[in-house]
Amino acid sequence: MKISGNAVLITGGATGIGFSLAAELLQADNTVIVCGRRESSLKEAKQKLPQLHIKVCDVSKEQQRTELVRWVTSDFNDVNILVNNAGIQRMINFKTGKSNRSPDEDEIDINFKAPVHLCELFIPRLMEKKTSAIVNVSSGLGFCPLAMMPVYCATKAAIHSFTVSLRHQLRSTPVKVFEIIPPIVDTELDKGARDKRGQRDRGIPASEVAIAVMQALEHDEYEKAVGMAKGIQEEVRTNPEQLFQRMNQW
Ligand SMILES: NC(=O)c1ccc[n+]([C@@H]2O[C@H](COP(=O)([O-])OP(=O)(O)OC[C@H]3O[C@@H](n4cnc5c(N)ncnc54)[C@H](OP(=O)(O)O)[C@@H]3O)[C@@H](O)[C@H]2O)c1
Repeated sequence: MKISGNAVLITGGATGIGFSLAAELLQADNTVIVCGRRESSLKEAKQKLPQLHIKVCDVSKEQQRTELVRWVTSDFNDVNILVNNAGIQRMINFKTGKSNRSPDEDEIDINFKAPVHLCELFIPRLMEKKTSAIVNVSSGLGFCPLAMMPVYCATKAAIHSFTVSLRHQLRSTPVKVFEIIPPIVDTELDKGARDKRGQRDRGIPASEVAIAVMQALEHDEYEKAVGMAKGIQEEVRTNPEQLFQRMNQW
């Protein structure tokens, strides 16, 4: 699809992969709207990219999702691309019970329920456009889990499965459905957990994922694994058990 002249909503677009993608899209002459929970991050993002449109929204809350879609579609009637990028990642040890699962910040709500509901709200509008797209950001960990973050990996596996079905359902409509599968990326996602467990690999820069998204859009590559995620996606088909053991040596 064409990569200029679109109007794009990126959830979680004030930082990390979403912010880098916003920068690429603005550079290519698109209108870009980003949302997130922290007003401070959104303002910081707008300071760096003044053309950005920003909106405080917690996508894990149903009412805020509905309000976001109402606001976006009234102020930016031409929105034709939804990027479901907002996400959190938590280490959860089920041996110690539920204590380390925050009820205020639920990975299932943010990483899975929100994208599904936003798709539901947007699809009728996207179907009216000449060309439109949904871009869901999953993860290499949706293909082979890291057992120390079991819920995160399950939400990413769910987003992959959902995206495959959605693409099939929408195949005869103007709505193209993309999945971007990043590897480890150097962002704030882990909230310092990589440092705590002594992980030296900080991952690739967010800008590399953003460039991959632009290429996927331009060449209609509907399922795009980036960097090491390509290897995971391939090996999980041929050698799943050994891959899991290798990724979970802790
Ligand atoms: N970094 C990696 O290694 C990696 C690998 C594979 C996939 N991914 C995926 O890439 C996506 C982007 O993550 P990132 O790495 O760029 O991390 P990030 O910099 O932490 O970005 C996540 C963004 O989501 C927003 N967000 C979180 N919860 C939200 C909510 N309830 N409502 C609205 N916005 C919310 C955050 O802003 P607020 O906190 O202000 O809300 C933040 O801007 C995620 O889906 C992640 O799972 C990342």
